[in-house]
Amino acid sequence: MAQLWGGRFTKETDQVVYEFNASISFDKRLYRQDIEGSMAHVKMLAKQGILTIKESDKILHGLLGILQDVDNGKLEITSEYEDIHSFVEANLIKRIGDTGKKLHTGRSRNDQVALDMRLYIRDELKNTDKLLFELMKVLERIMEENLDTFMPGFTHLQKAQPVTLAHHIGAYFEMFKRDRSRLYDIYRRMNYCPLGAGALAGTTYPLDRKYTAELLGFYGPTLNSMDSVSDRDYIIEYLSALATIMMHMSRFSEEIIIWNSNEYRFVELDDAYSTGSSIMPQKKNPDIAELVRGKTGRVYGDLMGFLTTMKGLPLAYNKDMQEDKEGVFDAIDTVTSCITLFTGMVDTMKFNKDVMETSAKNGFTNATDVADYLVNQGVPFRDAHTISGRLVLKCIDEDKALDDLSLEEFREESDVFQEDIYEAISMKTCVEKRLTLGAPGREAMKEVLKKNKKYLDEDVLF
Ligand code: ARG
Repeated sequence: MAQLWGGRFTKETDQVVYEFNASISFDKRLYRQDIEGSMAHVKMLAKQGILTIKESDKILHGLLGILQDVDNGKLEITSEYEDIHSFVEANLIKRIGDTGKKLHTGRSRNDQVALDMRLYIRDELKNTDKLLFELMKVLERIMEENLDTFMPGFTHLQKAQPVTLAHHIGAYFEMFKRDRSRLYDIYRRMNYCPLGAGALAGTTYPLDRKYTAELLGFYGPTLNSMDSVSDRDYIIEYLSALATIMMHMSRFSEEIIIWNSNEYRFVELDDAYSTGSSIMPQKKNPDIAELVRGKTGRVYGDLMGFLTTMKGLPLAYNKDMQEDKEGVFDAIDTVTSCITLFTGMVDTMKFNKDVMETSAKNGFTNATDVADYLVNQGVPFRDAHTISGRLVLKCIDEDKALDDLSLEEFREESDVFQEDIYEAISMKTCVEKRLTLGAPGREAMKEVLKKNKKYLDEDVLF
C-alpha cells in the first residue's frame, strides 16, 4: 500500500481496513480530470510565485507524461494506491523526484476530489445531452414522415380519440426537450471551481482562485470553502435528471412493448434489435425495450441511495462522500447505453400504418365527433352525448363501426343526421379538424414541426 500520510502514525493500516477505505477501483476513471486539475493548480502556483517556473515546468512535464502513459496503456492504475490522487502524486514523485512533492502545496484531497468530480460530471452532462439530441433527430424524422398516419390516442389504455403517429411521437419529443434543458440548468449552476477551498477553510498561500477557475473553463470560483468541499448537490441533480430521462424512455418502452405485441401489431422491431426464445420458435421479443424499462429502477436506486448518503452529513467533508462515485458512474453508464440502444431501436422500428389506422377506426374514437356534429346542428351537448352513446351501444351489439351505420340507423336516434355525417366523422376529418396549437391536425402539427426544426438546427445548448 502506498499512502499519502504516515508521520502521525506508529502502526501500518490493517490491510482489510485499507481495502475498505480505498477508492482506486472506481475513482481511477477520474485520472484525466485529476491530472488536468493538478496541471491548472501548478500553473497557478507558479504564477503566484509559490513554485518557481522551473519547478512548475518539471511537474507539468511529469504530469503530462503520466496522462499520456495511462492513455496509451503504458502505465496501469493498480490497487496498490488508495485513490487516484495518491496514484498520480506517487507516480509523479517516482518520475521527477522531490519536486513532485510540491504538487500538493495549497491543496487538500478534499478540494481536489471536489474538482475532479465537477470536471467529470460537467463532461458527462454534455455527453448525455448529445445522446438525447441524436434521439430527438430520429423522433423528428418519424414525425415528418407520419403527419397523416392515423392511430388511436388512448386514455386509461382505452381508445379515446384519433391522433397521428407524428403527434404521439411529438409528445416524447417534448419530454426529451425538457430533459435537455434540465441538463443545461444543472451545468449553469454547477460550473464553478472549488479548487483552493483546501480541506475546508481555504489556505494561507496567496492562491489565485480566479485564475485556476479560468484555466479549467469554469465561470469562476465557488464562494464558500466549506460548501465547496461538501457540496454534492449537482450530482444529486444530475442523478435526478438521469432518473427522469429513464422514466421517459421507460414509458416509451412500455408503449413499444404493447405496440409490438401480437394483439396490437402497431410496430415491428428490427431483427437486430430483438431477440428470440430458446424454446418457442415463433417469438420475437422486445428485450431492449424491456431492459430500458427494467434499468429505470436501477437509476432511481442510484438517486435514492446517494440522497440518503448525504442526508445526515455535518459540514464539511466526510468520508461518506466517497460514496458519490459508484452510484453516479453506474447511472451514467446505464443511461448512456440505454439512450444509445433505444435510439437505434426506434430508428429501425417499422410502423404498421394500416394496422394503426384500422385500430383507430374500430375503437369508436370518433364518438365525440358524432356528438360534436349534433351540437353544430343545435342539439345541446348533453343530449348529443347520450345519442352518440346509444349509437355506440348499437354498434357494439352488431359488431360494427359508427361509420358502418346506414343513414336510417343514424336517424333512428336523431333526425338531425344528414348525409354529411359520414364526412364529419371520417378519420381524416376527425384529425384534421383538431387545429389548435399542439393538436394532431396537419396544419397545427406543421407549425410545431417548424419550431422543432429550428430547435434542432440551433443544435448545442452548452
Ligand atoms: N477518495 C476520497 C473521496 O473520494 C478522496 C478524498 C479523501 N479525503 C479525505 N479527507 N480522506 O472522497
